[in-house]
Amino acid sequence: MNTTLAEDTVKQQAIENVVRMSGVSKVFPNGNVAVDNVNIDIAEGEFISFVGPSGCGKSTIFKMISGLIDNTQGSIEILGSQMNPMQQKRTNVGFVFQDSTLLPWRSVLENVMLPLEFQKKSKKEKIEEAAQALELVGLKDYTKSLPRQLSGGMKMRVSIARALVAKPKLLLMDEPFGALDEITRQSLQSELLRIWESQKMTVLFITHNVFEAVYLSTRVAVMTPSPGKVASALDVRLPFPRNDEVRTTHEFSDIVAQVSRDLKF
Ligand SMILES: Nc1ncnc2c1ncn2[C@@H]1O[C@H](COP(=O)(O)OP(=O)(O)OP(=O)(O)O)[C@@H](O)[C@H]1O
Ligand SMILES: [Mg+2]
Repeated sequence: MNTTLAEDTVKQQAIENVVRMSGVSKVFPNGNVAVDNVNIDIAEGEFISFVGPSGCGKSTIFKMISGLIDNTQGSIEILGSQMNPMQQKRTNVGFVFQDSTLLPWRSVLENVMLPLEFQKKSKKEKIEEAAQALELVGLKDYTKSLPRQLSGGMKMRVSIARALVAKPKLLLMDEPFGALDEITRQSLQSELLRIWESQKMTVLFITHNVFEAVYLSTRVAVMTPSPGKVASALDVRLPFPRNDEVRTTHEFSDIVAQVSRDLKF
């Protein structure tokens, strides 16, 4: 079928892959095979969660995507280019870890300004951008606080603001809500979805919680036990914006059941 150039461009944009992993394996120097032959393409704008048994290599995959460690086999393309140069990648990829990893001696605002440190911007601009990121996570009144003066949920919000401040196209989140109580976890899930929809990023998310994975995601990737590979990637066809009521629907339970089945090898 003939299509115009404009139509082709739109199609290309819609299916552009932000991450392409093909035949990716990682063997650590001590011989540990962390992941073996991982294949997955992730399109722009997806919110994809990775679930899988402990030790199957989820964090290793994220570390390879962010450039913290190298893969030993296969290829990883990020945002249309091969992994290097590191510097180019770092500005486009944000990382949120399970613990909020804030510097205790720096204020909330100064923590969020960290990723801007080496950018050629005035201090005023950096402060404004950090303040905006904090507003996005609902913490604009806490700029001067120190991390120890915040609750666990608030620290995690600061950590998310710090990842967002450089406006990454790709946000990697490794069990960010694992240490939070259920109520805080659910309110942060809703906030994260709101941010994802407003910022038009691609989010890769690791969780052990199947309900969390289904609630948040456009797709859930299930990994096999160690050494992991992606066993299935299930579309979550629940409409956005999602609210708490979706958790009580049959459609939601059906998808949770399906992911749980895929997890039993
Ligand atoms: N630096 C390292 N050196 C050697 N082996 C490692 C290293 N880091 C991770 N591994 C091994 O790689 C495998 C995958 O680890 P990884 O941390 O990616 O798992 P995970 O899926 O994130 O687990 P969890 O759900 O418990 O966080 C494990 O067997 C682990 O022992
Ligand atoms: Mg991990």
